[in-house]
Amino acid sequence: MDATTGRAGRGTEPLNFFDEGVAARYDEASAEMFTSDRVDPAVQFLAGLAWGHSALELGIGTGRIALPLSRKGVLVHGIDLSPQMVARLREKPGGEGIEVTIGDFATTKVGKRFSLVYLVYSTIDNLTTQDAQVACFCNVAEHLEPGGCFVVEAGVPPLQRLPPGETVRPFSVTSTHLGFDEIDVATQRLTSHHYFVSAGRMEVVSMPFRYVWPAELDLMARIAGMTLRERWADWTREQFTADSDAHVSVWQKA
Ligand SMILES: C[S@@+](CC[C@H](N)C(=O)[O-])C[C@H]1O[C@@H](n2cnc3c(N)ncnc32)[C@H](O)[C@@H]1O
Repeated sequence: MDATTGRAGRGTEPLNFFDEGVAARYDEASAEMFTSDRVDPAVQFLAGLAWGHSALELGIGTGRIALPLSRKGVLVHGIDLSPQMVARLREKPGGEGIEVTIGDFATTKVGKRFSLVYLVYSTIDNLTTQDAQVACFCNVAEHLEPGGCFVVEAGVPPLQRLPPGETVRPFSVTSTHLGFDEIDVATQRLTSHHYFVSAGRMEVVSMPFRYVWPAELDLMARIAGMTLRERWADWTREQFTADSDAHVSVWQKA
């Protein structure tokens, strides 16, 4: 399998990159994303938009956000491609009660409408073609009540940190983890490579993404019948500026 061509387009079923090997280490490897500093502001932000007391999470994973959000009284439904990630969600307190549909969040229907649909942790980039990302926005619009909101948390493409002519950017260099992105500015394709060292053994994981600019997302939202309502640098509503390395964007269905 070629990690850079893991998804060939809407005619091809997407591949599950969050298989047993990734799912088994996901919570530990993303430990800093599970701290209350990271989770609580996100949950508070999302709960404030779930006026129908129900929400749909695309790429629900092991329930990092869905579980605390459901403890706030929001009935969360999830979509995820990975049965292995969802199995981890099921093992956690409250995880059995969350309804999850296994499938591609760009196209999967759950047969209900929500006041809030959300997609966090740059998971929009897991859709590796522009067609798939546009399809995702259209699918979200179909799942939203009129006036409902779609929230995306994603990184701003890291191109200001890529010297002219270079294609590789390291993002983690420690004695136990080497991580670097391979970036193709012509196609907006980015492959993240991870080399984990543990007990004298090395494990390699490579995952394909398509990075996407906030303004391009605004156009996708417009195609799907939604308009930008708010954009912040983070969940605490810090101002989004030229220096922001991430954004939290909210589009509203007419
Ligand atoms: C980075 S994890 C985020 C999980 C969780 N939302 C969190 O914040 O911890 C991305 C999740 O999206 C799922 N995913 C990636 N591409 C998908 C797709 N096309 N359709 C459905 N799920 C997908 C993966 O299986 C994984 O569980």
